[in-house]
Amino acid sequence: MASTAGAKRLDGKVALITGAARGIGEATARLFCKHGAKVVIADILDKLGQQVADDLGPSWAIFVYCDVTIESDVAKAVDIAVSTFGKLDIFHNNAGIGGEPESNILQNTQTDFERVLKVNLVGYFLGTKHAARVMIPNCSGNIIMTASSAASVAGVAPHAYVCSKHGVVGLTENAATELGKYGVRVNCISPYLVDTHLTRVDYKYTDDDFKKAYTYLNGAVLTKDDVAMAALFLASDEAGYISGHNLLVDGGFSISKSI
Ligand SMILES: NC(=O)c1ccc[n+]([C@@H]2O[C@H](COP(=O)([O-])OP(=O)(O)OC[C@H]3O[C@@H](n4cnc5c(N)ncnc54)[C@H](O)[C@@H]3O)[C@@H](O)[C@H]2O)c1
Repeated sequence: MASTAGAKRLDGKVALITGAARGIGEATARLFCKHGAKVVIADILDKLGQQVADDLGPSWAIFVYCDVTIESDVAKAVDIAVSTFGKLDIFHNNAGIGGEPESNILQNTQTDFERVLKVNLVGYFLGTKHAARVMIPNCSGNIIMTASSAASVAGVAPHAYVCSKHGVVGLTENAATELGKYGVRVNCISPYLVDTHLTRVDYKYTDDDFKKAYTYLNGAVLTKDDVAMAALFLASDEAGYISGHNLLVDGGFSISKSI
């Protein structure tokens, strides 16, 4: 088997990643660039998003303000990717929020439930729709979504977040079924716990909480870079026959809970 070590696995590709101003999305943008892709960083955090783009360099990355819940923003981001870099090969729906860190349904508000669904699921629908708009005519393309272990294991996150991530898996499978006939692959990634703004600030995880969570794979810690590597695999030609798949990046967490 030919080795891919050191090879640029996304040479000549153009990728748009939502929620790439920080966290898992930022790590993925940096890794995609390292592997030869031009990257559009789409986020609502102008300053951080622009910093990531500047760091990668203007020939490799641009920042586009894009609120994934607003269809005209998503459509514009896709159009800017095509007008700046000539095409769009990869669309990564990754932007997400945790919502209220409250697991008691009696304390959950309709407002928070709808807000989480709007960003984490409606946003992914809009991203998938506008990615498909430019990918279908080319009869090729690659859509990736960040789901979560919360789509496979019950009781690990608030109801709104869990429902949104179950929806992402459903959207992945349905979109893969429809778009496969145009040569467009659609997959999602389900990471276990990663130390990011979402978990540390939104969900208030402490150092101790993180430490206690990593009991799988001999205590190995899951990082943003591990999740980015999974996205790189799905985005690359090595995953050329993989579509409709939910790639668990969880060290065995989900299966250990389902037995
Ligand atoms: N951190 C974890 O443990 C974990 C585990 C499983 C899945 N995920 C998923 O990974 C994805 C990335 O999260 P993260 O952990 O890196 O958190 P993060 O908070 O560091 O990053 C989320 C990014 O999404 C952006 N965003 C939020 N709302 C947006 C909107 N309306 N439009 C555009 N961008 C918006 C934020 O500005 C931010 O840059 C999310 O979908 C999250 O649900 C995270």
